[in-house]
Amino acid sequence: MTLPVGVLVSGRGTNLQAILDACAAGALDARVVFVGSNRDGAPAMIRATRAGVQHGTFSLRGYPSRAAAQEAMADALVRAGAQLIVLAGFDHVLTPGFFLKLRGRPIINIHPALLPLFGGRGMLGDKVHEAVLRAGATESGVTVHRVHPDTVDMGEVIVQRRVPVHPGDDVPALAARVLEAEHQAIVDAIRTFIPGAAARTA
Ligand code: GAR
Repeated sequence: MTLPVGVLVSGRGTNLQAILDACAAGALDARVVFVGSNRDGAPAMIRATRAGVQHGTFSLRGYPSRAAAQEAMADALVRAGAQLIVLAGFDHVLTPGFFLKLRGRPIINIHPALLPLFGGRGMLGDKVHEAVLRAGATESGVTVHRVHPDTVDMGEVIVQRRVPVHPGDDVPALAARVLEAEHQAIVDAIRTFIPGAAARTA
């Protein structure tokens, strides 16, 4: 069965693109049925448009509160038939109402470090890589994990991939190395929700 996936984004959407490309190439038996954003003008929405995927923006421009915006986004995901929700660079904490409306459908998030290290509220994108470099870590990586209410960057790990930190790395160099690993990890993580797919690709 082709898995219907909803993807939530806030920014440029390269992980969304990796998912769309894997579906189009037949490498992932899934279909992106909806892309939701919390940010007006997120470049990721251009990718959704280009791929012909239904999408919507749920920001304070159209809704009285963040909770109301997220509930409307949850309604749209359910209406589109999403059975798995992927946070691919989504930069808001999800509200309790969002989880309620999703009624137990799994929600997963990609984080650009080896959780539980370098995670938590406010640890987004380049801030994560800055912290890794400041700590003098010799490796970093990517974690895809389940998302539960009232937690940030916690939840069962689904896929984790390691990358080295090289002497002399700056944020852009480390971010690029991690991002390459992310694009594979997000596809591998989604595959674990497709019955029988892990066995077929092993
Ligand atoms: C990715 O590096 C993702 O891991 C990170 O935001 C970036 C989004 O890039 N997410 C977090 O930091 C979550 N804590 P993208 O829009 O190109 O996919």
